[in-house]
Amino acid sequence: MPENGLEQLCPFDAIYLGAVGYPGVPDHVSLWGLLIPIRRGFREYVNLRPARLLEGITSPLAGRRAGEIDFVIVRENSEGEYSEVGGRMNRNTEFELAMQESIFTRRACDRIITYAFELARTRKKHVTSATKSNGIVHAMPFWDDHPDWFDVVVGSNLFGDILSDLGAAVVGSMGLAPSANLNPEREYPSLFEPVHGSAPDIAGKGIANPVAQIWSAAMMLEHLGEKLAARAVEQAIFRVLANSFIRTRDIGGKASTSDMGEAIAAEVSDVAVATRKCQSD
Ligand code: IPM
Ligand code: MG
Repeated sequence: MPENGLEQLCPFDAIYLGAVGYPGVPDHVSLWGLLIPIRRGFREYVNLRPARLLEGITSPLAGRRAGEIDFVIVRENSEGEYSEVGGRMNRNTEFELAMQESIFTRRACDRIITYAFELARTRKKHVTSATKSNGIVHAMPFWDDHPDWFDVVVGSNLFGDILSDLGAAVVGSMGLAPSANLNPEREYPSLFEPVHGSAPDIAGKGIANPVAQIWSAAMMLEHLGEKLAARAVEQAIFRVLANSFIRTRDIGGKASTSDMGEAIAAEVSDVAVATRKCQSD
């Protein structure tokens, strides 16, 4: 990212980010030079990661039907285990050491846990706190001091990261999971991206599942107040999965990225037209 990257992005309403990576560039370099500074700089302290089992998708968990898995991970997105506090010493000697401190502040814990409770009020009124206070003796009991089955799951930065990978796996594929990095105060643009990172090993092969990326766009439209458009994009995804055999490899098919993208795009137009008709009636 250029030196003034955040300045360039700041005036925009939202950021729609594709998974970024490049063969030969270590992940921590591309991420700490782009995605993470945006999340932090724009105070996108909520990372919202829905996990929903859709019709037409098989969960690795036996006997689960569409809709039976439906929860949202609220990931703390500004501090926690992802901290820059620490360093490395005595490189390439037998005394080499690496230290990285987890940072848990009252302010950041309060605001993310409050967000999770507010969200739960609009759903099943149930919050689960992801913790590990038996082993992580200082930070996690502090986290627990603020808030129990799965509907809204609130977790620290690292736990939220791991749980959202597991969430994607139980609802069928990493290729299906969308996310929103939100600055709820709207002082800065929020960022919308798939939960998955880049996959340099399949770059350019045209086999990636585009659903996570497209569904993230629906979350962006929702955030921008374009609720009908958001529903149209979501419904188009759901319909293609439920009613067609078009599937990328990760979900058991042979379709290419663009086959799937085009099928969803075609449905978007249909849903949008149908919605317009209803409204004028
Ligand atoms: C994610 C990703 C990132 C994260 C990586 C690529 C830094 O795994 O958005 O979940 O851990 O935040
Ligand atoms: Mg991750």
